[in-house]
Amino acid sequence: MNASPQQEESPRGRRPRILSVIGARPEIIQAAPVCAALREIADEVLVHTGQHYSDAMSGAQIAATSLPEPDHNLGVGSGSRGEQLARGEERLLEVIRAERPDAVIVRGDTNATLAGARAAVACGVPLVHVEAGLRSYRDDMPEEVNRVETDRLADLLLAPTDSARATLEDEELRGRVVLTGDPLCDMLESWRDRIAPAEGEYLLATVHRNYNTDDPDRLAAVLGCLARSPWPVVLPLHPRTLARLKDWGLAVPEQIELADPVPYTRMLELERGARRIATDSGGVQREAYLWGVPCISLREETEWVETVDTGWNTLAGVDEERFAAALAAPVPAERPPVFGDGRAAERIAQAVLDLVASGMGAVA
Ligand code: UD1
Ligand code: UDP
Repeated sequence: MNASPQQEESPRGRRPRILSVIGARPEIIQAAPVCAALREIADEVLVHTGQHYSDAMSGAQIAATSLPEPDHNLGVGSGSRGEQLARGEERLLEVIRAERPDAVIVRGDTNATLAGARAAVACGVPLVHVEAGLRSYRDDMPEEVNRVETDRLADLLLAPTDSARATLEDEELRGRVVLTGDPLCDMLESWRDRIAPAEGEYLLATVHRNYNTDDPDRLAAVLGCLARSPWPVVLPLHPRTLARLKDWGLAVPEQIELADPVPYTRMLELERGARRIATDSGGVQREAYLWGVPCISLREETEWVETVDTGWNTLAGVDEERFAAALAAPVPAERPPVFGDGRAAERIAQAVLDLVASGMGAVA
C-alpha cells in the first residue's frame, strides 16, 4: 500500500491509531489481510473479545492466518446473545477509553461486531464497519440484527460487493459508503498458489447457523440432505452443532465423516478438492465460488446473492429433493470476479485513513 507521509498523519500529526475488533472464527480470518495493510500506514491495537476461545476456533486460526497475537483478549466466552453483547460492550468500553484510538473497526455480523460498534459509539470514536450492507432479511438470525444495527451506527460503511453497496445506498444510512471488495477474497487469493486440493472424491459440508442447529427436526433434515450425496461427506463440525447432535442423540448417516474444525489452510485444501460443497456458512459460500466448486446452501436465502445469480450456489433449504436436484445441476461456465480483485484490504486501510484525516478522529 502506498501512502504519502502527509496522508499517514492524523489531525494530531502522528500515525493514526486504529483499534480493530475480532471475536469469532470468520473475523479472525478476514482480519488478517486488513491487519497487514493497515499496519503499513497506522498503529493498530488488535482486540479479541474472546467470543471464540477453543484452540480449533481461535488459536489455531490465528496461527494459520499469521494474524498477529491480539493485544487484548477480553474473555467474553460463550453465553446468551444478551450476555455476550453486555460483556463485550462493557469490556470494550474500558479498552477503548484506555487506548484512545482515532477509529474503531468492526467486521461482519457477530455479537463481537455489535458489541464493538456500541462501545465505539458510546466512547464517541468513529466507527468503521467492514463487510457492511449484507442482508438476509430474516429477523430470526442474530447476525441480521447485529449487522443492521452496526450499519446504522457506522460512520464508514465498507461494502464487499456491489449489491451490498447498492443496499446501503438504498437504505440512506448516515455513514459514508465505499465499495472495497471482500477481504476474504484477498485472503484466499494470497493462498491460491500454495493450496493443493485434498485427495479423493467427497462432498465437503459445514453446518452451524442457529436455525439449522437449534431445532432437532431441522438438524435431522440437514443430515438427511447430506445423506443424498453420491460421495462420502467430510463434515468438520462447529462445536455448536456437535453439542446439538449429542443433546438430541441424532443418528449420523454412515457416509458422513465427522471431524473437528480444521485450520483455515486445511479448509482451503478441502474446499479446493471437493466435488461439491454444502454449507450454511457465509464464508464457505464465497470460498466455494472463488475455487469454482458448486455450492449448495442449506438455507432458504443468502446475503451473498452474486453466488446464486451466477449459478454457482443453489439455495436448497433442507429439502432432500431440492438438494439432490442441486447435486445433479450442470456447472456454470462463467465466474465473474464479484468479490473484487484481491486488493480489498488496501482500499479498506485507505478509507480508514481518509476517515481519520477528515478530522473525525479526535477522541472525546
Ligand atoms: C458465531 C456467530 C456467527 C458465526 C460463527 C462463526 C453470533 C451471533 N454468531 O456463532 O455469525 O458464523 O460464530 O463460527 O455471534 N463454542 C465452543 N468453543 C468456542 C466457541 C463456541 O465450544 O470457541 C460453543 C459453545 O458451546 C457456544 C456455542 O459454540 O455456546 C456457540 O458459540 P457462539 O459464539 O455463541 O456462536 P456461534 O454459533 O459460534
Ligand atoms: N473454516 C475453517 N475451518 C472449518 C470451517 C470453516 O477454517 O472447519 C473457515 C472457512 O474457510 C471460512 C470461515 O471459516 O474462511 C467461515 O467462518 P464460519 O463458517 O465459522 O462463519 P460464517 O462465515 O458463516 O460467519
